[in-house]
Amino acid sequence: MADTKVYRASTTAPVNIAVVKYWGKRDPKLNLPTNSSLSVTLSQADLRTLTTASCSAAYPAPEGDSLLLNGEPSDVSGARTQACFRELRARRAALEAADPSLPKLSTMPLRLVSENNFPTAAGLASSAAGFAAFVRAIANLYELPASPSELSLIARQGSGSACRSLFGGYVAWRMGSAPDGSDSRADQVAPASHWPEMRALILVASAAKKGVSSTSGMQQTVATSGLFRERITTVVPENMDKMEKAIAARDFAAFAEVTMRDSNSFHATCADTYPPIFYMNDVSRAAIRAVEAVNAAAGRTVAAYTFDAGPNAVIYYLEQDTAAVVGTFYHLLGGLDGWKADSLKGAQSAVALDEAVAGLLQNGVSRIIMTGVGEGPIKTDEYLVAEDGTPA
Ligand code: DP6
Repeated sequence: MADTKVYRASTTAPVNIAVVKYWGKRDPKLNLPTNSSLSVTLSQADLRTLTTASCSAAYPAPEGDSLLLNGEPSDVSGARTQACFRELRARRAALEAADPSLPKLSTMPLRLVSENNFPTAAGLASSAAGFAAFVRAIANLYELPASPSELSLIARQGSGSACRSLFGGYVAWRMGSAPDGSDSRADQVAPASHWPEMRALILVASAAKKGVSSTSGMQQTVATSGLFRERITTVVPENMDKMEKAIAARDFAAFAEVTMRDSNSFHATCADTYPPIFYMNDVSRAAIRAVEAVNAAAGRTVAAYTFDAGPNAVIYYLEQDTAAVVGTFYHLLGGLDGWKADSLKGAQSAVALDEAVAGLLQNGVSRIIMTGVGEGPIKTDEYLVAEDGTPA
């Protein structure tokens, strides 16, 4: 009898925010980077993608593989998505060849349904969580014995930063040197439990879609920036080394200095791109000044800012320094969505800020996200595809 069963598997995957940034491809086709990078995986209680992968011989063949993202059909014909499908299917086909009793899932159309628990347009790293969930969900469906590090090789081809979202805690993406990319993969530097006090306060400065995509921005930087060469040969290797030591020693002052310097270095190479690329805006720069004021008032480094390819500020701090860090921002922005009462303990005192800085933040920040370091992808039995194959 023909197998018309609908096979399903679901996972959630986290967002990660780099403290040593990936910026630049040495091979755009295989998505191989010009430098290693390191990130903190953020808690899925606050930011996560939930993806169900399903396949069935009963799915209409002309439909082919499909993806429904936040309720909208999403194009899967792009080279990066196709590379992920191809790699995962090849691994499943190898299992089926070795054990003919296995159902032939590799021959069936895939139907994926995916949802974020945060606005996609907030300029957060949704592609990282999205591709990590995509790859992990299909790997679960196919029952692949692959480790997270092996899956990171596949997710990397979807979006570079996605390879780091296959792990929780503190995660490095090693650039590797093999021309085929076989050693350009992620590994866990330390689990979340090693330094569980790490918190992140995100100031969403714009809900608008970013101007220059990271994919295109980094290509322009590689092609035109002289400063970029210094970054990849000297600055990043030193920052990777210092950052791994800071994490091993749970040394926040060192972690913070590398985080801020590396963000500044990355944005300097954007400014040195010709024509220049500006991801940070006046609100971002005001956030930097506010973090500096908070650190000066504390008499030590209690907060660290970092910015990706957009204006949002991510501010890392330790739970025990909540009072010293969060009060200043709560005082200014307390009326916005996103504050959590239990993460505000003792955060009553505020540092006086320059009037222009305070005004920019008050006018330019649209919402807050409070979160912290978290775990890697989690298998779940919450399905976005019903047993009969219809999107739930
Ligand atoms: C600034 O991973 O989005 O966030 O590989 O082209 O998909 P593609 O790029 P992407 O770039 C992320 C750049 C960054 C820094 C980082 O996350 O390390």
